[in-house]
Amino acid sequence: MYPKYLEELRHEPVTLLEIGIGEQGSCKMWSEYFDAEGCRFIGIDRLSSKEIPRWKFHVADQSNPKDIGAIGRQHSPLDIVIDDGSHHAEHQRTSFEALWPYVTPGGLYFIEDIQCSYINSNASLMPYLFNIVEDVVTSRLKFNRKGSDKSFVHFYPHIVVIGK
Ligand SMILES: C[S@@+](CC[C@H](N)C(=O)[O-])C[C@H]1O[C@@H](n2cnc3c(N)ncnc32)[C@H](O)[C@@H]1O
Repeated sequence: MYPKYLEELRHEPVTLLEIGIGEQGSCKMWSEYFDAEGCRFIGIDRLSSKEIPRWKFHVADQSNPKDIGAIGRQHSPLDIVIDDGSHHAEHQRTSFEALWPYVTPGGLYFIEDIQCSYINSNASLMPYLFNIVEDVVTSRLKFNRKGSDKSFVHFYPHIVVIGK
C-alpha cells in the first residue's frame, strides 16, 4: 500500500522520519525509492545504528515524548513519518502525539503492525485511532468547533495511515 501514497512524492525532496531501524532494510529501501537530491532521511531507534549514506540517526526511546518531540522539531517539517518501532500501543500513541505537530500539511503518518493491539496483552491503540476517525468525520459539523488537522485515516491489515 505504500506506493499508493508515496508514488507521487517519489522524485520530490521529501523529509522522511522512521522510528525503528532494525537491520536497516527499510532505510536502504527508502533511500533507493526516493531519488531527489534534497531528500532528508531521519531514523530513530533505542539502539545505535551504523551510519549509512543519506541517513541521520538518533538514539532515543519512542516512549519518551520529550526526546521524540525534540527530534521532530529539529527536522521539521516532516513529509512522511513511519512508526515501525516497538509496536506497543502506548509508545505508538506517545510518538504520534510528539511528532504530529511537526508533520507538514499534506503530510502522511504511517503506524505499522497495528494488529499488535489484538495480540499483545498491553493496551490497544484502536480506541485512540477511533477517536481520530471521529475527529475527521465530525470536523465540518458545527459542534466540533476546533475542526481537525487530520484529513483522513485509512486502515489496512497491519497498518494505518493518517493524513494531515
Ligand atoms: C521491526 S524492527 C524495524 C525494522 C525496520 N523498520 C525495517 O523494516 O527494516 C523494530 C526496531 O524498533 C526498535 N525499537 C523497539 N522498541 C523501541 C523503542 N521503545 N524506541 C525506539 N526504538 C525501538 C528496535 O530496536 C528495532 O530496531
